[in-house]
Amino acid sequence: MTPSFIRLIRFHCFHSIRKKGICTFLLIGIGVNSCSKPPETTDLQDTTESHFNTTLSNKQIMSLILEPASDILWDSGGWVLDAAGYEELFPTTDDGWDYVRAQAAIVAETGNLLALPERAPDNDAWLIYSNGLSDAGLLAMDAAESKNEEAFFEAGGQIYSVCTACHQAYNPDIVNRFDSAD
Ligand code: HEC
Repeated sequence: MTPSFIRLIRFHCFHSIRKKGICTFLLIGIGVNSCSKPPETTDLQDTTESHFNTTLSNKQIMSLILEPASDILWDSGGWVLDAAGYEELFPTTDDGWDYVRAQAAIVAETGNLLALPERAPDNDAWLIYSNGLSDAGLLAMDAAESKNEEAFFEAGGQIYSVCTACHQAYNPDIVNRFDSAD
């Protein structure tokens, strides 16, 4: 048992003993270690306090985490043919692909951030879109890992559809803003 683990237990006890007096049971469970019965789950279930720090609002998650990461993905995939000529936007080096893969990981994990109970306004469509965001982010990660341009482009499109679908359902004004930016 590391000192920090002990501190964690103490911290937990400090909070829970005042409320429910369940701390003694928890410490006994740890003291006898492997021969003891696993601690009953009542301890966790009784805890109404959140384990997550959800100070950031959904709006901040959008503008500070999700949009910057997905913008990099969208700027890194595709083919442009204009007056200036033909240009491929995909990364051309291993480092470049590693970088976009990391942005895809941010998109994938942001799906989880949005799905936290404190952030989800409901347990239906919101969770479907949040999970959809994670799935699309994982697809982009896979494509970046295998440097598959076609698959990376498609994953970018899938990410965009999830953004739009959720905005349509929960904040149509945002969709209009996106459209007018195009
Ligand atoms: C699970 C639902 C959901 C998904 C998925 C989602 N959004 Fe949002 N988004 C929202 C909601 C709700 C708001 C409005 C938040 C508010 O104003 O309180 C919002 C707002 C925004 C805003 C405006 C932020 C501001 O500062 O006003 C941007 C930009 C944005 N989203 C970008 C994205 C992008 C890019 C994606 C996809 C990569 C995405 N969102 C995916 C629900 C979602």
